[in-house]
Amino acid sequence: MSNTELNMHASIENHESAVKHVTGAAIYIDDLPELPGQLHVATGKSAHAHAKILKLDLSAVRDCEGVVDVITYRDIPGDADIGPVYKGDPLLVDELVSFVGQPIFAVAATSLKASMRAVEKAIVEYEQLDAIVTVKDAMEASSFVLPEKSFVRGDVDSIISDAPHNLSGEHYIRGQEHFYLEGQVSLCIPTEDDGVLVYCSSQHPTEVQRLVAKVLDVPFHEIVVEVRRMGGGFGGKESQAAGLACIAAIFARRNQLSVRFRMPRQDDMVQTGKRHDFWNRYRVGFDDTGQVLGVEMDLAALCGHSPDLSEGIVDRAMFHADNSYYYDAARITGYRCKTHTVSNTAFRGFGGPKGMIAAESMMDDIARTLNLDPLDVRKINLYRPGRDVTPYGQTIKQHVLSKLVDQLETSSNYRVRREEIRQYNQGSSHLKKGLALTPVKFGISFTAQHLNQAGALVHIYTDGSIHVNHGGTEMGQGLYTKMRQVAARSLGVSIGRIQVNATRTDKVPNTSPTAASSGSDLNGMAVRDAMNQIRDRLVNFLASHFQCPPGDIKIENDLVVVGDQSLPFNEVVNLAYMNRVQLSAAGFYKTPKIEFDFEKGTGMPFYYFANGAATAEVIVDTRTGEYRVMRVDILHDVGRSLNPAVDIGQIEGGFVQGMGWLTTEELLWDDGGRLVSDSPANYKIPTAYDVPEAFNVKLYDEPNREETIYQSKAVGEPPLMLALSVWCALRDACASVVDYRFNPMMNAPATSEEVFSCIQNAKARENQDD
Ligand code: MTE
Ligand code: HPA
Ligand code: MOS
Repeated sequence: MSNTELNMHASIENHESAVKHVTGAAIYIDDLPELPGQLHVATGKSAHAHAKILKLDLSAVRDCEGVVDVITYRDIPGDADIGPVYKGDPLLVDELVSFVGQPIFAVAATSLKASMRAVEKAIVEYEQLDAIVTVKDAMEASSFVLPEKSFVRGDVDSIISDAPHNLSGEHYIRGQEHFYLEGQVSLCIPTEDDGVLVYCSSQHPTEVQRLVAKVLDVPFHEIVVEVRRMGGGFGGKESQAAGLACIAAIFARRNQLSVRFRMPRQDDMVQTGKRHDFWNRYRVGFDDTGQVLGVEMDLAALCGHSPDLSEGIVDRAMFHADNSYYYDAARITGYRCKTHTVSNTAFRGFGGPKGMIAAESMMDDIARTLNLDPLDVRKINLYRPGRDVTPYGQTIKQHVLSKLVDQLETSSNYRVRREEIRQYNQGSSHLKKGLALTPVKFGISFTAQHLNQAGALVHIYTDGSIHVNHGGTEMGQGLYTKMRQVAARSLGVSIGRIQVNATRTDKVPNTSPTAASSGSDLNGMAVRDAMNQIRDRLVNFLASHFQCPPGDIKIENDLVVVGDQSLPFNEVVNLAYMNRVQLSAAGFYKTPKIEFDFEKGTGMPFYYFANGAATAEVIVDTRTGEYRVMRVDILHDVGRSLNPAVDIGQIEGGFVQGMGWLTTEELLWDDGGRLVSDSPANYKIPTAYDVPEAFNVKLYDEPNREETIYQSKAVGEPPLMLALSVWCALRDACASVVDYRFNPMMNAPATSEEVFSCIQNAKARENQDD
């Protein structure tokens, strides 16, 4: 099927809030009107990375103008630990601070300014303790938040040492600030019976409900959490949104007033977790053709002071240390380093990008060692029938990548451009071009099996309008748009009838976070299940009402066809109501087939894989390290697209966000563990000017072979990792200064400084070799 035909299957609906986004009519938490007496929160923060609090004097804080209430650890009515999986995240610290910026106390005042002014007045005395703030120091001290894990297959050490060739490499990959446009925010309103209604910008309303209930020591049913939309989450609101809700809820209940907690940008950057830094090391044995025989990888993540979601994140890095390549023998080890820094968290890709960059760096190294084109080394190592079992034992069933890479190689004119670039570089003394084509294979499912479930709630009203709720949250990714389409399509009515309403814990309970790119996969099936139940009820009712076989009844295009007569949908709904047919249903879905044994490190953690590839071309000024991304071609696999416009938007956005991570976004801490890059002035996210001059994005045409919602595939995270092509192209340009005899070591982000020093190091090594 061509893309155009495919589009006929899936309507290119606009994002349901597109107009509201651009006109400002879309309501975010901070747009909600103030209730009378509303309070605003700020927190008092630790000045040290690791210290004992000897004295905490808050009298001047309490005396400040506008201050209504002040709380410390001792004022938390219930459980003070808000760790999402493991303990370790105190809402407010008791005695021991473990990162710079950690909240020690909180103030509620009549305005945000008043609360921010007041927290400055605290007198805190500390006894400073030794702090570990880097991965390497943590590795040396064996300081971990959780024990290490490995996937092992084959006799790796002897295979690597007996191989015709072997090499080793390493790099340091920095983390990333989410920089969602809407910062972290919660608004809490006290309700009867000690309850609280929480408006929150969270990817995980159920988790916010659970933690607010535990902190307040009330049953979950007293807490209702509502999320209409986020101004971006990107993983940063999977666990990190809960703390604000908990603090606001405590104040709301104590004061019986509505309480708003919106973090100013700088607090948000300092106090909430980010993407993990990783220090990756690898050793690989390979043959003369570049085929990998055995790989050893050590992936060490900077987790910060607590586990948060780091177990799953480092697991996912390990699950993606193969990226798209078959390793006959492998030992992949993940380390979860404990440091006295903010606890790092989910970020688009959830560890996957960190494993993949090791694989891609290794492919380039092998190619340069053998004087082969890196694309040929990548192609020879791609999973294919017969070489299709991952190091963790999952068999790849749908082989998309070799076809997809071939198509992109042709459409991006890779071979011709490779030759042109080689010639250009020979003739150009200072400006050098680089080229790379890199694939992505991303496992779809939560690696924690129980999270792979979803619910939905559908009501049809007597005017024929339809109200849909589901467990997923909208963060700009277009989930509500897709759910509206799925609802309309599964019932056979137009999308104009469907309203997808704010996600609420009292409509659909016990939900999973909207994460792991699985929002539409899981909730789409749950919505369809609910719709199917109602459709079956309508059909059965009509069959008995009109005395005809159910098979003669169809609902399509807002009409109900009964034999040879056609009735408007509204009339049928009304008729059904008058005949006491239930017009509401709850849907449910759980992903089939998946299972994984973490003890043994084998199983089938992913229902299927999403694939893609990108070709990137860069030009570098070797005198300064400055560069531009000239052209990017992407071919990406979303199965049969639910909405090509939304999907292409996700691919473009994900790619540019990945490019920011790998090029300009430099997270820096000083030796004392203080975040230096703490504002947009010293942390550079991509702008429109950084988008490649030529940017061609296409969808690969092939339906998902697994039974997913209308044979689509998840799209949210995988495209971020297409940006590895830019990093590899930059390294390729650097390698050109030594005539591609080797790949100089390059870290990420490849800022101009990093590219410059990469070139200098390459030249120095060449002189040594001579
Ligand atoms: N797109 C936008 N516009 N904003 C976001 O915050 N988050 C990403 C991705 N795309 C995000 C986004 C992340 S981290 C995930 S896991 C998925 O969207 C979540 O949504 P989905 O499962 O519905 O794709
Ligand atoms: N991906 C993203 N978020 C998650 C996961 C995952 O696999 N597990 C728990 N939260
Ligand atoms: Mo996305 S990192 O799984 O929220």
